[in-house]
Amino acid sequence: MENFVIKGGHELFGDVNISGAKNAAVAIIPAAILANDVVRIENIPKISDVSLIIKILDCMGANVKMINSDTMEIDSRAIQNKSVPYEHASHFRASYYLIGAMLGRFKNAEVALPGGCDFGTRPIDLHIKGFKMLGADVEIVNGMVCAKADKLVGTSIYMDNVSVGATINVMLAAVLARGLTIIENAAKEPHIVDLANFLNSMGADIRGAGTDVIKIRGAEKLHGCTYSIIPDQIEAGTYMVAAAACGGDVLIKNVIPKHLESISAKLIEAGAEVIEYDDAVRVTRYKELNKCNVKTMPHPGFPTDMQPQMAVLLSVAHGTSLLSESVWDNRFQYVGQLTRMGANIQVDGKLAVIDGVNELTGVKVKATDLRAGAAMIIAGLIAKGETIIEDIQYIDRGYEDVVQKFSNLGADINRVEIVEEEAIINAG
Ligand code: UD1
Repeated sequence: MENFVIKGGHELFGDVNISGAKNAAVAIIPAAILANDVVRIENIPKISDVSLIIKILDCMGANVKMINSDTMEIDSRAIQNKSVPYEHASHFRASYYLIGAMLGRFKNAEVALPGGCDFGTRPIDLHIKGFKMLGADVEIVNGMVCAKADKLVGTSIYMDNVSVGATINVMLAAVLARGLTIIENAAKEPHIVDLANFLNSMGADIRGAGTDVIKIRGAEKLHGCTYSIIPDQIEAGTYMVAAAACGGDVLIKNVIPKHLESISAKLIEAGAEVIEYDDAVRVTRYKELNKCNVKTMPHPGFPTDMQPQMAVLLSVAHGTSLLSESVWDNRFQYVGQLTRMGANIQVDGKLAVIDGVNELTGVKVKATDLRAGAAMIIAGLIAKGETIIEDIQYIDRGYEDVVQKFSNLGADINRVEIVEEEAIINAG
């Protein structure tokens, strides 16, 4: 078992390189099996969610190998096993993309209901509605989503809610369906566009990704390609917020600044300076932080996956900020950890009222999920004294080399192995 130990109070200076996008990688890797061929994917992030999908594809009979540190080759010609058991699917949300991908290629898929971060109820009704409208029979049997079809036929599918996962899953199932599928009220996140570009590189015909109407004309078959994943919007945003919260001057490299506009706007409002370059942003902050109100929204709004990190910054900003969560029912579970560090935050349903305090104090805290874990790192970096973060396996799901990247910026952060007896005492 490992913890992060952070000695706070250092400003951050220097450069950080952003890795490939987690949420694109976890869609694009399963999508690769839609081609009965060899696919090469570059800019793969070294995170545990990616290791999990590789393990699943391996168990299915695909041949997955790393060509170099961030390039993967997937040969899915020999896939035999079209069933993904609970032991594999329960560790992360994106395991459900294998339903769409296998349904598309084999017209048959069995995948255990997915796991992932706990933000309240996470239904998959829209995914199932989409598969059914394309002509599949879908049943949930003993915790497995079982989907099969003689053939899939394109149709018009209206999403009752803007859902990243359902939009992606329907795209995956529809690329090899007969005729035209139209997804209305589609999600517009950067990773939806990245997935569409990847599928088009394999011979699919997808138009409109990035708008709320996506049109997919079914192809006969897809072929291999080489594709490079976009930079991670949320990893970049996390370093931007960290730089603004700690103060200093940080150049965040290998990003698409357009994807970061909603985050830049809020950091500027809070008192930081953000300069955009072609593929980098520079965040500096030398003056006091001001309150600002933030509401999470689907893209291009402020991302819900940046909400906990922003809460940390606002917890030491001058004045009272309102932080409103409009995507998930229950995404303030980390607030208890921050109040133990001295933050003054009241939560009422999907609204947090944050009264800025002068400083946070280091204590032992838990990463309650992936982005909450990132928020705890930022809290530790600005706090007085030592912060110990437990349950860092959540953070490893989505942040490549986080200790090294923050250390390069001058942070005092270490990954520390804890001996078994100590772990038992802590758990007790
Ligand atoms: C993805 C991201 C997650 C992010 C979220 C919103 C991945 C692997 N995860 O999650 O980090 O927080 O987008 O940006 O990309 N909903 C339904 N029915 C459905 C599906 C969703 O009602 O069938 C609702 C959800 O309860 C939620 C909203 O739609 O309120 C958005 O969820 P969705 O966009 O689907 O999130 P995920 O794809 O699971």
